Amino acid sequence: MCGIVGYIGYREAYPIVIKGLQRLEYRGYDSAGIALYDGTNIKLSKTKGKVSDLKNKLEDEISTSGSLGIGHTRWATHGVPNDVNSHPHYSNSGDLVIIHNGIIENYDALKKELSKRGYTFKSDTDTEVLINLIEDVKKNEDTKLGKAVQIALNQVVGAYAIAVFDKNKPNEIVVARLGSPLAIGIGEDEFFIASDASPFIEYTKNAIYLEDEEMAIIRRNKGVKVRKIKDDALVDPYMQELQLNLEQIEKGGFDHFMLKEIYEQPEAIRDTFRGRLLTNQAIIKMAGVEDNMKKFLAADRIIIVACGTSWHAGLVAEYIFEDLARIPVEVEYASEFRYRNPVITGNDIVIAISQSGETADTLAAIKLAKSKGAFVFGVCNVVGSSIARETNAGAYTHAGPEIGVASTKAFTTQITVLSLMALRLARAKGTITSSEFRHHLIELETIPAKVEEALKSDGYVQTIADIYKHATNFLYLGRGFNFPVALEGALKLKEISYIHAEGYPAAEMKHGPIALIDEQMPVVVIATKKGHYEKVVSNIQEIKSRKGKIIGIVTKGDKSVKELADHVIEVPETLECFSPLLTTIPLQLLSYHIAVMLDKNVDQPRNLAKSVTVE
Ligand code: F6R
Repeated sequence: MCGIVGYIGYREAYPIVIKGLQRLEYRGYDSAGIALYDGTNIKLSKTKGKVSDLKNKLEDEISTSGSLGIGHTRWATHGVPNDVNSHPHYSNSGDLVIIHNGIIENYDALKKELSKRGYTFKSDTDTEVLINLIEDVKKNEDTKLGKAVQIALNQVVGAYAIAVFDKNKPNEIVVARLGSPLAIGIGEDEFFIASDASPFIEYTKNAIYLEDEEMAIIRRNKGVKVRKIKDDALVDPYMQELQLNLEQIEKGGFDHFMLKEIYEQPEAIRDTFRGRLLTNQAIIKMAGVEDNMKKFLAADRIIIVACGTSWHAGLVAEYIFEDLARIPVEVEYASEFRYRNPVITGNDIVIAISQSGETADTLAAIKLAKSKGAFVFGVCNVVGSSIARETNAGAYTHAGPEIGVASTKAFTTQITVLSLMALRLARAKGTITSSEFRHHLIELETIPAKVEEALKSDGYVQTIADIYKHATNFLYLGRGFNFPVALEGALKLKEISYIHAEGYPAAEMKHGPIALIDEQMPVVVIATKKGHYEKVVSNIQEIKSRKGKIIGIVTKGDKSVKELADHVIEVPETLECFSPLLTTIPLQLLSYHIAVMLDKNVDQPRNLAKSVTVE
């Protein structure tokens, strides 16, 4: 889960590559590096730290000319983050240069073999092994770079998106992909390479996304040739027209992407509805569901696989599907499911949820489910992502690019898509009446405006953040549809402020966590009207009697919780099943403001990366 960028054409490569790396920093940011080639000299610079550190180092250190360049922003897997382990890596001769996103699993055996043949290694990385393997093949087989890359990759086990160039071939870059994304931007007499299209969006709207086990030889002034890595077959690649625009990937006046994305939620949810929620006609249109309705209606159960925040959205969906459509649902961590030898039949439907569409564990869970005959439906945000392509059918969330590492609008738009699906299936199965169905549609349509209203609590949430920013532990409690929101609120706080936080179903508190409560412990309790309200109020009383500090998330106009809690944050009233779309808003804001007040890097929290393409 690193970011790779490359350019070959007639412009200076440096500004394109460095800006591209900044856009891809969400993928990893513990070190960065760049190699530029002007046809005579290769200039390579790399450093531990951010792309801004690289920029400072580079502009002092070397000239930045050259119309061929590759760059890398790293999230360390093999070898600690330091200058030496940063990419790009040279081969032993100094002729070949590589950047790599992924993991070469059999690198150790390959390294031993190459060492016997006299190769030496400066870094601890699997990538340096790969570039020397390519060099070894190139020498032994007396072949060109493209062929050497192909032969070497056929000896490799693992995942990769790579870009390689050869000092003796100044007009060529070779790229390849297996399990890690790689897009090639096609301009006029110039070509771009990147882990996603954001680095080249201002230069071209035309892109080829390499499929797994494909490689491409990109030649200046000549074009792109795509081949299968295994059997060398030529591929006629599909050229996509990109929908992304520059504005979508910039901060637009907000201090952080996370805050921008929190505020984008009303519009993002509207975009998720567009063309699907037709309230006037009392219908929901979802092609992926419609086309496979027979399978959905015949399904014995739905298994949801996902990781992190997407898993939390899956848990909300469990409550919604079971309540509305009466289909049994199981929600699984993709990372556990894939190794558990699960019982799956052809009558199961697996729904895979992923913002990035690249999460390695979710991808592996999908492959396993498919191999056992299940029909797999994807809920992804990134169009054309690996998961979107691997699933049998699916629905995009249309949230727009999510750059902040902490997921916000992805969560609410995933819940929106899953709610639409549950309602459509409920209608088809007859588990809700037509008037209930219409009522749900009308209410769902009001959600974006209600999210806007919930966002108005921002000022008060800041005041609360200021009071509790130095707490070392937080508890988050919720019940029913809002239990997963408690988990999500705790995750948001942990990942960006590094404060320890736990989410629990409110009633479970008595079975252990209550021992933690004292006057130092802030407890965030989601206590909206309906759905176990009285029970949650009793839980609040229990916290109060142990002197815990209570931050209640309540329905507008609430009286009972107000009397007990230290603070209450109001959200508009809605149907219980849609309440997670509102209750999650103040929790996102709370974690955001605490992290900002603690001076943490909100958009790039330590140790994390936006898309987890390693297991
Ligand atoms: C948390 C977060 C992660 C992701 C998880 C899955 O804020 O962003 O927990 O939700 O890594 O990622 P996707 O949805 O891309 O599969």
